[in-house]
Parts: sequence; structure tokens; C-alpha cells
Amino acid sequence: MNHLGNHLLDIDHLSKDYIYDFFKETEKIKNTPESSKNFNHNKNICTLFYENSTRTKLSFQKACSNINAVFHNLDIQTSSVNKGETFYNTIKTINSIGMDLIIIRHYSSGAPYFLAKNTKSSVINAGDGAHAHPTQTLSDLFTIFENSKKFEDLEISIIGDVLYSRVARSNILGLLKMGSKINIIGPRELVPVDVINLYSSIEKSYKNKINYYEDYEKPILSSDFLMALRIQKERFDKNTDLNFDTYITNWKIDTKVLSNLDREDIFIMHPGPVNEEIELSHELVHSEKSLISKQVENGVYVRQKIMEKLLDEK
Ligand code: NCD
Repeated sequence: MNHLGNHLLDIDHLSKDYIYDFFKETEKIKNTPESSKNFNHNKNICTLFYENSTRTKLSFQKACSNINAVFHNLDIQTSSVNKGETFYNTIKTINSIGMDLIIIRHYSSGAPYFLAKNTKSSVINAGDGAHAHPTQTLSDLFTIFENSKKFEDLEISIIGDVLYSRVARSNILGLLKMGSKINIIGPRELVPVDVINLYSSIEKSYKNKINYYEDYEKPILSSDFLMALRIQKERFDKNTDLNFDTYITNWKIDTKVLSNLDREDIFIMHPGPVNEEIELSHELVHSEKSLISKQVENGVYVRQKIMEKLLDEK
């Protein structure tokens, strides 16, 4: 696909070539910020966040100011949602006020699709339930692209809460699409049942590209990047029986783990926020091999480029 259309709801419909081109364009605005100055400004952009956020919301806000768009935020906690207004009526209200672009985060998977169907505005999904988080995926993949300039032949290990994490779902799909090999590591309770067939049912060739490991030693030995995920306690259902002490003992990654494996050269990633000393040690998060701050920084440029494209194509 060579255009975004009106919305960015997931990364499924973006082709590998489109993503490579998108990264080259993003690199350009990162290296020459003045290249955005000629953009058609004064567009109205509204965030609608039903879940907490620090980096995603603030990076969208900063990106808005980079393109001189007008940033609006509907603070859900103090909005008429608290008076019982339905999601549909909130959408209708925003429609009447008139926004060029709405950026939504919602605890229900699919909410951005419902919004897109019922609004005149463009829509960006900034995370829906355990479903998808396309702008985080583009930020994470752009960070990998900046380091390696390619995805083919790269091996990326993803450790932790793959089951409840929307970032995991979008990142796995994105990385497989780009041609990387994925190792999924973590307790069985936090990995989708039959994870290999799940992804190979999307595309047959993915079967040889994704493996599951309960222990981290073997996959870390061969990986270029290790991406840890936040344990999504808020999404656990009643039946998830996970003991955090067991998680820390078996899957927490720190500098000692990497030095025992002689893998001090591996890059560490995490979409944030990190539960330090559960997923990764504080020392590792703030070490030289950590790309976590880069992921946040790149999130601004990636989100800026997405907004420019959506507003341009309108
Ligand atoms: C993620 C999210 O909200 O999905 N955070 C983010 O946007 N960077 C990951 C998380 O909450 O664990």
C-alpha cells in the first residue's frame, strides 16, 4: 500500500516498501527539522485518551507543535464521560465541534475502528486494549532501522507479557513483515497459546521466522536486539495466575545476565513505562546499550510524519 488513507488503526495494511519509505522520510525530518516548515498548518488535532499515558500523548503534543497544528485534549477524567455520556455521543460531539484528526487511546480493543466509522476526522490508534499500537511499532522499528539500516537477517527477542501487550502484537507483526526473525521468551501464562500457528495463519512464511522459548539463554545468544515488555497487570483476567517473584527470578534481565552470556553487545529496548527490577534492572535501563530513550525521542518524529501524511492526504 502506498498511502495511509484517512486513518492509522494498525500496521497490518502497510507494506514493507511503504514502511521503508516512511522511515527514510522520517529520517529526513529528524535530520533536517526545517523540512517540515512548509507544511500546511493550522489543522486541529484532538487527543482522546481513556487510559493513562506519558510518552505517547506528550510526543503527539510535541509533534503537533513541530507542524504548527493546534493541539486539543479532551481530558476524559473531567469530561461528560463521568456524567454517563456514551462513547457514541462523545464522538458525535467532537464531530460537531470539528477536528481534522483525532488520536485515541482506549481500553477496549476495536474502539478506534468504531470512532473511524462514525467521524469525519482522520483517526490514529494510540493503543486499544490488548490489540494494537501502530505508532509505537513504527517508533520501535524506526529505532531498529536507525541502528541497523535493514530488518532482513536481524534477530529480535521479545521477552515478557506478549499475551496482554498491544505493543507486542503490533511489533511482532511489523517485524515479521519486515523480514526479521522473532524469538518470543517468557512464561507460558503470558504467551498466546499456539503462538507460532497464530502468526503463521496470517502468512505461511512466518512459521519459520518465529520461535517460542521458555528460557532466555539460547535466544539471547543469537539476537541483535532484546525487547522487554511491561507486565500489563491492568489487563490480566481473573484466571491469570502469575507470581511476580517467579517472573523476576526467571525472566528479569540485568547486566549480570548479559555478561554471563557474554552478550554485552546486545541492544536493549522497551516501549515504556518500565517496571524497573521486574522486567529490566534500573542499571540496564540506563546503560549505554539501552535504546529506550531513543525510542521515546524517535516517537516524536514518527508521529509527526504520520500526522503530516494523514493531514496531507485529506
Ligand atoms: C505502551 C502502551 O500504552 O501500550 N506504552 C506506550 O505507549 N509507550 C506500553 C505499555 O503500557 O506497557
